[in-house]
Amino acid sequence: MAKTKVNLQTLSKMKREGIPVSWITAYDLPFASAAENAGIDMILVGDSGGMVQLGYKTTNPVTMDEMIVLSSSARRGAPNTFLIGDMPQGSYEISKEKAVENALRFIKESGCDAVKCEGGRRIIDKVKAMVDAGVLVFGHLGLTPQSTSSFGGYNVQGKTLKSFESTVEDALALQEAGVMAILLEAMPTAPAGQIAKLLDIPIYGIGAGSEVDGQLIIMHDLMGFYQSFRPWFAKCYIPEIIGEFHKHITSISDIRQYGRENRKDGLFAIAEIAIAKYIEEVKNNTFPGTQYSYPIKDMQLEELTKSKYWK
Ligand code: KIV
Repeated sequence: MAKTKVNLQTLSKMKREGIPVSWITAYDLPFASAAENAGIDMILVGDSGGMVQLGYKTTNPVTMDEMIVLSSSARRGAPNTFLIGDMPQGSYEISKEKAVENALRFIKESGCDAVKCEGGRRIIDKVKAMVDAGVLVFGHLGLTPQSTSSFGGYNVQGKTLKSFESTVEDALALQEAGVMAILLEAMPTAPAGQIAKLLDIPIYGIGAGSEVDGQLIIMHDLMGFYQSFRPWFAKCYIPEIIGEFHKHITSISDIRQYGRENRKDGLFAIAEIAIAKYIEEVKNNTFPGTQYSYPIKDMQLEELTKSKYWK
C-alpha cells in the first residue's frame, strides 16, 4: 500500500502531540527514493542542490530551470512523499507576479506539494500572493543562505535580543500571511524553542536544536558526500550504520540473485539504512541533542529572557 503523505492537518496534529517531523533534502531519483523507502515525512529539494549536486560555490547561481530538473527527478523517486521545492534567489523577490508564476512552475512542472522561500517581512507581499494563488508556502528564517552577505556570513542567528525579536516578528508576519510552516536555520536551542512555542504553525529546524517541531538535514551531509564543507550541526550517519549494512549483507546466501531480485545489495541499501537511522533519532529526540546544536552563553540567554516574546 502506498504511504500516505503528510498534509496541513497531520503536520498540525504532530505539533500538538509533540511528534517530531523528519525532513531531508534530495535532488534526484535515487536519494529521494531511498528517503521515501526509509519512511521520511517530507523532502526538500533545496537550492543547496546547486552546491552539493551541481558544484556551484554558493546557492546564488541556481536557476529556476535547474530547480525544476532537480525537483522533477526527486518527485519521480518519491511519488508518495510530501515534496517542497526551494525557490532560488531571483525567483520570488522581484514581483508578486513572478513569485506566483515560479511557485506554480514547481507545482505544475515538477509535481511539488509546496514551495519554500527565504525571508520574512521584506517579502511578505510575495508570500501573500503565492498563498492567495493556492500555493502551500514554507517560510525560512534565521540564517538564510541566499542573503548571507547581508548577515555578514554564515553566522548563528537569534543570540541577541535584536536578532531574536526580529526573527519572532518575521515569523509572526509569515504566520499571518498564511504560510504552512517555518524553517529556522542556525539558531541555538532555547530561542528556536521559544519561537516554536509562540507560534501556532509548525516550526522546523536545521541547526536549531531539539525544541522545535521537527528536523531537516542535508542529504549529502548525512551521507558524507559533500567534501567542501560540513556545517557544525550536520551529522554523517554512515560510520554508525556500516555494521548494520554488513550484518544485512552477510546474512544473504546468494548475493547475486538477491541483488538481481531486489537491489538491496549496494549504495541504495546503505542510503536507506542511514536515512532510517536519522528518522529514528529524530523521532526519539536523540538527534540533534546537544552535540549537534549551537550553544548559547548564559549572559546572552539572560538578555533574551527579557524579551516581550519570551514565554
Ligand atoms: O537549500 C537548502 O537545502 C536549504 C537548507 C539549507 C535549509 O534551504
